[in-house]
Parts: sequence; structure tokens; C-alpha cells
Amino acid sequence: MRSISFLTRPGFFLVLACLSWGGAQAGILDYRRPPILPPPAGNESTPARVALGKVLFFDPRLSGSKWISCATCHNPALGWADGLPTGIGHGMQNLARSTPTVLNTAYNKFQFWDGRARSLEEQALGPILNAGEMHRDIDGLLRDLSAIDGYRTMFAAAYREDGISEAAIGKALAAYERTLITTEAPFDAWVEGNESAITDSAKRGFVLFEGKAKCNLCHQGFNFQDDGFHNLGLKERGKPDPGRYAQRALPAARGAFKTPTLRELSLTAPYMHNGAYATLQQVIDHYNRGGDVRTNLSPNMHPLNLSTTEKSDLIEFLGALNSTNPLTETIPILPQ
Ligand code: HEC
Ligand code: HEC
Repeated sequence: MRSISFLTRPGFFLVLACLSWGGAQAGILDYRRPPILPPPAGNESTPARVALGKVLFFDPRLSGSKWISCATCHNPALGWADGLPTGIGHGMQNLARSTPTVLNTAYNKFQFWDGRARSLEEQALGPILNAGEMHRDIDGLLRDLSAIDGYRTMFAAAYREDGISEAAIGKALAAYERTLITTEAPFDAWVEGNESAITDSAKRGFVLFEGKAKCNLCHQGFNFQDDGFHNLGLKERGKPDPGRYAQRALPAARGAFKTPTLRELSLTAPYMHNGAYATLQQVIDHYNRGGDVRTNLSPNMHPLNLSTTEKSDLIEFLGALNSTNPLTETIPILPQ
């Protein structure tokens, strides 16, 4: 049971928990920051691995054009996304989907909008080799990296057994991405008991989020996602996108996409897998309509009948999920 929806102070909540009130554990404390998912065996975090992953992340020499790095699309200055409706890849081609933030991907069981990668290690090679994104052949990449003294030293320090290899590149990028975690937001301070950390409007928004608007059917816990895939009835903007169906051919998976985090939304517009909405107001209006396209629509999508004030309370609540001091990054000097 997760949807016990109280606007309780944590203190009050603890009293309830002490009385072992059924299901109460699933209350406000569920929004506390959990540990990230453990890395796969063989890729425990070390400073050398994170340092290598960081330079690889910012190095455009990983791409076929030598012009596009991971950070071109996952730009720290833009919430580790790109500010575009859908990404722009190799040869300036428009990609079919929007670039998600890499913040908090350490909490995701699945990577990509359709969940086609099971780990960050597996995910990282995808964009490098993808003809539309970084358009790189792996042999050429390994040859180029091996010719750079600085990389030889860093790979030896980080992955002595793997050496300069496809596996080590994926592991290093994943080790770095596991350090990209959102910092404290006003909502987190409120969860810890600071009543004045968020506005009354945001508190009302949270009650709606767990109550009338039922957002927490899918956006759950610290990272506000459920590792699930849902069809929200979005209008197609380009070619029909099968979404999760390409991975699991079940009718309910058609047009279903992974629930994204709701943290740092002020930095990551436009929204949705296809960048359909430029503002949170448009997103809330979409939910309020109960979606637009009814084919394979999630059974959890219904018209919500929210008033104008309720909509702005929800938006105010989402604003309380923006970090007070968003994670910044120093762009590294690349190995030579
Ligand atoms: C050309 C732009 C572009 C580049 C370059 C790029 N990405 Fe992405 N990234 C995307 C897009 C678009 C998606 C979503 C694709 C999809 O879901 O099918 C994505 C998805 C991801 C995800 C999944 C996030 C989630 O929540 O599911 C991770 C992690 C990621 N990229 C990391 C990287 C890394 C590491 C690199 C460099 C090796 C990289 N990206 C390079 C555009 C880019
Ligand atoms: C049925 C599950 C479900 C419910 C209920 C739900 N969401 Fe979502 N939410 C998702 C999924 C899945 C996506 C991505 C959908 C896509 O792009 O096709 C999403 C996307 C979003 C986004 C865009 C995030 C981004 O980075 O693109 C916001 C904001 C959002 N939801 C807020 C809410 C709010 C507020 C509510 C309640 C009014 C809500 N959601 C209810 C599953 C849900």
C-alpha cells in the first residue's frame, strides 16, 4: 500500500508509525533519499573510474565527427539534457525522442524511454555506436583512445584487467553517471520536518499529487518514478513510436514509455518522450484532460477535473522538487 495520503508533519507521521498503523510506512518518509542501486559486479566505484568516466563523458573524440560528446546532448548547463523537443545527432539529424536528463539515472532499473538497456554500463555504448547519435565504429574508437598517452594511464589505473576496451568505456561512463545525483530540494527539507521549506500552495499540490490527481500511481518515491511504462495518450508528433512495445510485444506496451523523474523539471523542458509540451502548465492540462488518444491508454489516466488553483498548486509542488543548488560540474581538460 503506498497511497496513504496525508499532509502530515514527519513528527506526526512517526507517531502514527509507532502505533503501527497499517500501511503507514508508505507515507512521507518514502520520499527520503535511498541509496543508489548497487553497480554490477566488477564495477564498484573508485575515484580512478569516476575520473575516467568524466573525461569520456565530455570528450567529443568519442564520436565519428569528433564533434559530439555525451555532454553535447546531456549538457550540465541544461539540467544534463539539451533543452530541445527531440535530440539532434550526427550530421545535425533530428532524433525521434527527447533527450532525458542523466541525473538520477543511478536509480533507474531500466534506461532509455523504452527501457531497452538494463544498466548504465549497457546503455553507454548505445549512443556512441548509434549511427544517428555519435556514429562511431568501436575499432576506430579503441585505436584512437589507445594512441592517447593520458587515456592509456587512466584506463590502466581504472580498469587494469579490461584495458582500453568497449567494456571499460561502458563501465567508466556508468561509474561517472552514478555520481550525478540531484542535490537537496525544498521538498526534501520539508520531508525532514522543516515546515517552512515549501509554500502552502506546494503543500496543497502534494496533497493533490497523492490524492485527487493520483500522480503517485506512477511517480513514486524519492526519484518520482516507478520503473514502469505507461501510455499517456499523447498525440504522435512524427512517425508512430511503438515505445516499450519494441521490447515487449504486449498490447499494453504499445505507445508506453518509461516514467521519468520529476526532479529538476525547471531545467529540463520541453517534456515527454517526444518533447510535446514546452511548459508544465501544458503537461498538467494533458493530465487534466485524461490524455488525448484513447488507444491503449493507461487505465490510470482519467479526466481529473482540477480547478485553476489546483493546477497551479500542482505546478508549485513540482517546483519544490528543483534542487536549491543544482549539481554543477567543472568541464575537464581532456587527456592528451
Ligand atoms: C545526440 C544526442 C545524444 C548524445 C550524444 C548522447 N545521448 Fe544519451 N540520450 C539521448 C536521447 C535522445 C536519449 C533517449 C533515447 C531513447 O530513449 O530512445 C538518451 C538516453 C540516455 C540515457 C537514458 C536515461 C534514461 O533516463 O533512460 C542515458 C543514461 C544516456 N543517454 C547517457 C548518455 C551517454 C553516457 C552518452 C555518451 C556516451 C550519451 N548519452 C550521448 C541523446 C544523446
Ligand atoms: C499512468 C502513470 C502516470 C500518471 C498517473 C502520471 N504520470 Fe506523469 N508521466 C508518466 C509517464 C510514463 C511519463 C512519460 C510519458 C511519455 O513521454 O510518453 C510522464 C511524464 C510526466 C512529466 C514530464 C517529465 C519529463 O521530464 O518529460 C511530468 C511533469 C509529469 N509526468 C507529471 C505528472 C503529474 C503532475 C501527474 C499527476 C497529475 C502525473 N504525472 C501522473 C506516468 C504517469
